Amino acid sequence: MKLVVATGNPGKLKEMQAYLADLHWELTLKPQELEIEETGDTFAANACLKASQVALATGNWTIADDSGLQVDALGGAPGVYSARYGNSDTERINRLLQELADKSDRQAQFVCVVAIARPDGEIALQSEGVCRGEILYSPRGNGGFGYDPIFFVPEKQLTFAEMTPELKHSISHRGKAFETLLPQLATINS
Ligand code: IMP
Repeated sequence: MKLVVATGNPGKLKEMQAYLADLHWELTLKPQELEIEETGDTFAANACLKASQVALATGNWTIADDSGLQVDALGGAPGVYSARYGNSDTERINRLLQELADKSDRQAQFVCVVAIARPDGEIALQSEGVCRGEILYSPRGNGGFGYDPIFFVPEKQLTFAEMTPELKHSISHRGKAFETLLPQLATINS
C-alpha cells in the first residue's frame, strides 16, 4: 500500500524516510503544489491537520509530523512557530540566540507529533516524542538541519548537528515518536 509522506522539508523528509525504510509500504512524496497551512496551535493539531488534508487530497494513507523547539526561558517559544521564526535556518538560530542573550536558563526541548491518516482523512494513529537539551551560546557542528547546531544534549555531550544520523535518530523527539508509532503502523497492512 502507498503511504504519502506529507512534508516539504528536505531535512525532515530524509529522517522520516530512514525511519520508514523497513516497512511494507511504498513511500511517495506529497505533491509539491499541495501546501497545507499550519493553523493549529499545538503540534498534535498541526500534524493531524496535515495528515488528514493530504490523505483526502491524494486518496492515500498519509503520514505527517509537526515538530519544533520549546525554550523554557521563552515560555515555550518558538514552539509551533519554529519554522516561521525567520526566513532561513541561520536567521532563526540568530534570532533565538539574541532572545536568549541575557538568559542563564538554557533548558529547552524538541517535541514531535506524528500522525497517520486513512484515505478518508480519519486519523488512525498518533504519537508524541520529546527530547530535552540546552541551547548553546553559538552553533556547533555541520550535520542535521534547523536548530540542530545550537541544541546540546548533555548526556551525549554533543549537539544534534555533531551527532551521526543514527545517534540523533536513537534519541531525538522524532526518533521517539516513530519508535512508538512503527509497531502499530506495521500491523495495519501486514
Ligand atoms: P514543521 O514541523 O514543518 O512546522 O517545522 C518544524 C521546525 O522546527 C523546522 O523547520 C525546524 O526549524 C524545527 N525542527 C523540527 N525538528 C527539528 C530537528 O530535529 N532539528 C532541528 N530543528 C528542528
